Amino acid sequence: MKTIPKTMTGACLPGNGTVAFKTYKIPPLKHGEVLLKIKASTICGSDIRCIYHEHLGKGPEGYQPGTIAGHEPCGQVIATGKGMRRFKEGDRVIVYHISGCGLCNDCRRGYMISCTSETFRRAYGWQRNGGMAPYMVAEEKDLVALPDALTYADGAQVACGFGTVYEGIQKIGVSGNDAVLITGLGPVGLAAAMICRAMGASCVIGVEALPERIRIAKRLILRKRSRVKLFDHVLKANADNVDAIKALTDGQGCEKAVECSAHPDARLTAVQAARKWGKIVLIGEGGLMSPEFAPSRDIIHDQKMIVGSWVTNLCQMEDLVERLVRWDIHPADLITHRFALEQAPEAYALMSSGKCGKVAVCFDEERNGQMF
Ligand SMILES: NC(=O)c1ccc[n+]([C@@H]2O[C@H](COP(=O)([O-])OP(=O)(O)OC[C@H]3O[C@@H](n4cnc5c(N)ncnc54)[C@H](O)[C@@H]3O)[C@@H](O)[C@H]2O)c1
Ligand SMILES: [Zn+2]
Ligand SMILES: [Zn+2]
Repeated sequence: MKTIPKTMTGACLPGNGTVAFKTYKIPPLKHGEVLLKIKASTICGSDIRCIYHEHLGKGPEGYQPGTIAGHEPCGQVIATGKGMRRFKEGDRVIVYHISGCGLCNDCRRGYMISCTSETFRRAYGWQRNGGMAPYMVAEEKDLVALPDALTYADGAQVACGFGTVYEGIQKIGVSGNDAVLITGLGPVGLAAAMICRAMGASCVIGVEALPERIRIAKRLILRKRSRVKLFDHVLKANADNVDAIKALTDGQGCEKAVECSAHPDARLTAVQAARKWGKIVLIGEGGLMSPEFAPSRDIIHDQKMIVGSWVTNLCQMEDLVERLVRWDIHPADLITHRFALEQAPEAYALMSSGKCGKVAVCFDEERNGQMF
């Protein structure tokens, strides 16, 4: 039995572009709870969009000031409360990042993200303490087993980014038939490219605004020592993107589009560069659709389908980790920078600058993982 301290230092986000460190008690475990030793905790674009600069989020995205940040936690169970049904000390786990009531219709589908209980829906890193600390209390029902072939840094990204992308891709379906357009090549867009490629997409085209991210996207490969690049083409975001994408796809456009930027122009590009009968999934959050969007011209007469997608369900997350192993792909390959918890201010500032791929705060054996 490892010695568990009574208190720990955790990082919270005051909402003014800084990170604050506070001392938190490690509470006794209640029925159905586990204590995790956090090993990797990655930063999501939503942390920056809704919390880091300003506490913008409302409702499910409302951050409770002082809460330990981090909604992509992955670690090892080091203690358990009473009433465990499946997980035990020593297990390596990912935390599905929203704890739901378990009883509403959405929770019963496994979509705790959409839980309708105002009292019991609490997301880790938003309304209850998350992964930017050495320890975290989680509920057993929120855990997903991390396969041995995946590292903790792989698992952290499944908790939000990869899980989200996998769900969106399931909704539109991707196979070897498809040329896929991905707009916004932050960590979510890069994850989309990795999964689409693994699922056989025969052409992957990316559109991104920032030069650093274009450079990173061009270098990425599907797996170590592979010759398969994640992207066939990476375009700088501009007004000619739709024409350029059509030119790359026999004048027709892509069968599928995955929008990961939330920028109004990129949303319109995703819709217009999808071909007739094409399917588009909107994942990037916040903001508006371009005022240029003309439904009859842009989707109705071309029989296109637009779908929205919010995080994923527990069962899909379990399927995803199994498939990551089968495909032999590692989300951690998208991590360009690893930091210790004390360096969390640098980690958030870097993610906010966009001059990076995925940014991770790592502990213990994950500290020295391979860099980009
Ligand atoms: N739907 C969901 O469940 C879900 C889950 C997680 C994250 N998200 C959202 O997904 C988005 C992406 O997350 P991320 O972590 O990659 O964040 P990010 O902010 O790092 O990535 C967004 C990228 O879009 C790029 N971009 C901006 N304008 C563009 C344009 N006109 N054309 C092309 N690219 C453009 C940015 O430069 C950036 O690289 C965020 O909005 C995040 O909140 C949604
Ligand atoms: Zn997220
Ligand atoms: Zn619920």
